[in-house]
Formats: sequence, structure tokens, C-alpha cells
Amino acid sequence: MEVRNRLMNVLVTGGAGFIGSNFVFYMLNKYPDYRVVCLDLLTYAGNLSTLETVMNNQRFRFVKGDITDKELVANLFKEERFDYVVNFAAESHVDRSIEDPSIFLKTNILGTQVLMDASRAYGVKRFHQVSTDEVYGDLPLDRPDLFFTEKTPIHTSSPYSASKAAADLLVQAYNRTFKLPITISRCSNNYGPYQFPEKLIPLMISRALKDDSLPVYGKGENVRDWLYVEDHCAAIDLIIHRGKDGEVYNIGGHNEKTNLEVVKTILKELDKPESLITYVKDRAGHDMRYAIDPSKARSELGWEPTTSFDEGIKQTIKWYLDNRSWWENIINGDYQKYYTRMYGSREGATA
Ligand code: NAD
Ligand code: TYD
Repeated sequence: MEVRNRLMNVLVTGGAGFIGSNFVFYMLNKYPDYRVVCLDLLTYAGNLSTLETVMNNQRFRFVKGDITDKELVANLFKEERFDYVVNFAAESHVDRSIEDPSIFLKTNILGTQVLMDASRAYGVKRFHQVSTDEVYGDLPLDRPDLFFTEKTPIHTSSPYSASKAAADLLVQAYNRTFKLPITISRCSNNYGPYQFPEKLIPLMISRALKDDSLPVYGKGENVRDWLYVEDHCAAIDLIIHRGKDGEVYNIGGHNEKTNLEVVKTILKELDKPESLITYVKDRAGHDMRYAIDPSKARSELGWEPTTSFDEGIKQTIKWYLDNRSWWENIINGDYQKYYTRMYGSREGATA
């Protein structure tokens, strides 16, 4: 208790997932005077073994729980008196949202509301919503001059992006109506360590390593704007500390690639044949191109990405090669067993 009171206290929801875990590491490393509490439900996408290296850190606490659970969230806020809340927790996979939208609406919209109600009730310096460029819909392939700015109208395509957009609007409404101090970041596609192997880059790396076919949707010509995950973490750090109350910041590194380019780069790095590529039925409503104009974050916050795609993809492939057991356990479903073995009796306890 005594240690905690002297430290800035940050709630990171969804911190056992891909970007959230990278943000937990980033904050604990960068700020020796910060304490980080991770609230995560450990859905299929959350993995406690990812947080293994910080579990015994005195400035870290893991709490297993649902952001839509009002009572649990209120009790946690009452106990912890957070300075900052950074909301990563979400259902995040477009394909799953097409299969079953309902959990996306519950977690992504209602969960955000529950967290903001607790933030209002107990007071925070800043509630930060981690959003996505997908709220802007897509851009045509034949207009490379067009980019998403913060003024681009919301125009969603998938149940996932619609749920994220709804949450963004709610966050802005809480700012205007209740004066809750908020910021929103809308970032392009992330890649890097600890990404769940259902998303394009880790899926292709893990399948290529097993010489399995690589399922490319449609013609593989859709364009994504890739950002190394640590650059996203650095942007959020700047936004919560220096960003203006009520503002939206677009985050992206001008690294546009077609899906086919990405898959071919991975195959080349792994010295695997392009014959592994298999073209499969396209995703319904598939967005053509995402491209972020990050000039507001650059000019107002001095944010610049530091890792180029060439460098980042090499580092990421190396990470998946060096950490084979992390993703193999996930694919095998063994991480559920890991959870029971390592953490079964410690749910909700301070690590
Ligand atoms: P992820 O799917 O890897 O992780 C999500 C985490 O949230 C998991 O640990 C999961 O257990 C947890 N979670 C899910 N439902 C929960 C609930 N009800 N209560 C508590 N925890 C819950 O996702 P990610 O790729 O790390 O994305 C994190 C955030 O960043 C999301 O909000 C996503 O919309 C946003 N985002 C992602 C990208 C990207 O490229 N991955 C890009 C821009 C924005
Ligand atoms: P994904 O990683 O699911 O992110 P998002 O849909 O949020 O951009 O997909 C990135 C791109 O890769 C997208 O255009 C869909 C495509 N894709 C495939 O071609 N094959 C796959 O198996 C997956 C998962 C994605």
C-alpha cells in the first residue's frame, strides 16, 4: 500500500493481449515510478504466459476480470484510485466479428462504458481509448494520394469496426457531457512479438514454418499500413501525457504494403517457396486500403515511428523463431493448461 501511494497508477485493460502486453512492458521499463495494473479476462486472445516476466515485479498487478463486470470494475477503481486508464481490452479480429458480432458489441462498447463510468465515479487524470483506423472505412486502391486524417468521417465496414466506432463516439460523448478527460488514438495495423497467430503476419509465419499452405484472401491486393508495435506504445505514452483533452490522434508510419507483398517477404525471409501461397475466398466486406496521415501526432506531440518495416518484419520473424513454444502452445490450446497450472489459485491476487 505504501509503495503504491507514491507511484503513478495506470490501469491497462487487455494487457495479456498483443498490444496491451507490449504496452505493459514499455511502461514498466520506461517509468520506474509507475505502477501498472492489468485487467484482462483471458479470453482465447489473452495469454498469461506473455506476462510471465513481469508477474513478480512489485510494480505490477494482474487481475483476471471482465471489463463489462460493473461491480468488479467499480471495486477495482475504488481500491486502486487509478491516475490513467488505457483501454486496450476488446474483441479484435474482423473475421470473428463476421462469424458472431454479439460479443464485439458487448465487450467493445459496453465494456468501454463500464470503464468510463468507473473513471467518472473515482476520478482519473485521463481515460485513453485505443481505437483503430478501421473506423474510417477504407480508401480506394487507385487513389494513393488519399489518407485518413482525424477529420475523415466515420464509415465502418465490419461489425468489429462498427463496435470500435460506437465506442469512440461514446468516449467523445462522455468528454462533452460529463467532462471526463479523454483521448483517443486511431492506429493502423500493428505487428511484432506476442501477436496472436490468427492475424495475418503471425499466421503466415507460423504456417510457413510448418510448410502449411498460406491462405491469402481474394487476390491479395488489399493494402494495410503496418506499424511496429513498440512505435504504437510510444505514441500512446505521448498522448496520455501530452495529448490534449478530448482529442483524437491518428497513428501510422506510412508503411503501406499489399497482403501479397507481406506474405512474399515472410516467405523470402524464411527461405520458403511461394508455392505455399493459396488464394482463398475473400473476406465479406473486405476493406481495400488503409492509410494513415499521422501529421497531427507528429506536429503536436513530436511522435515519429522508429522501426522501418524492413527492420521490424525481420525482428518479428526472429521473435517467432526464437519463441516457438509461445505460439505452438497457443495453437495446441496448451496455454489453457498453463493458466490453470501457473495461476489457478492466484486469480485476482496481487502478484
Ligand atoms: P488482442 O485480441 O491481442 O488482445 C485483446 C485482449 O483483451 C486479450 O488479452 C483479451 O483477453 C482481452 N479481453 C477481451 N475481452 C475482454 C473483456 N471483456 N474484459 C477484459 N479483457 C478482455 O488485441 P490487440 O491486437 O492487442 O488489440 C488491442 C487493442 O488495440 C484493441 O482495442 C484493438 O481494437 C486495438 N487496435 C489493434 C490493432 C492491431 O493491429 N492489432 C490496430 C489498431 C488498434
Ligand atoms: P488481419 O490481420 O485480420 O487484420 P485486419 O483485417 O484488421 O486488417 O488481416 C490483415 C489483412 O490480411 C486483411 O486484408 C485480411 C488479410 N488476411 C488474409 O489474406 N489471410 C488471412 O488468413 C488473414 C487472417 C488475413
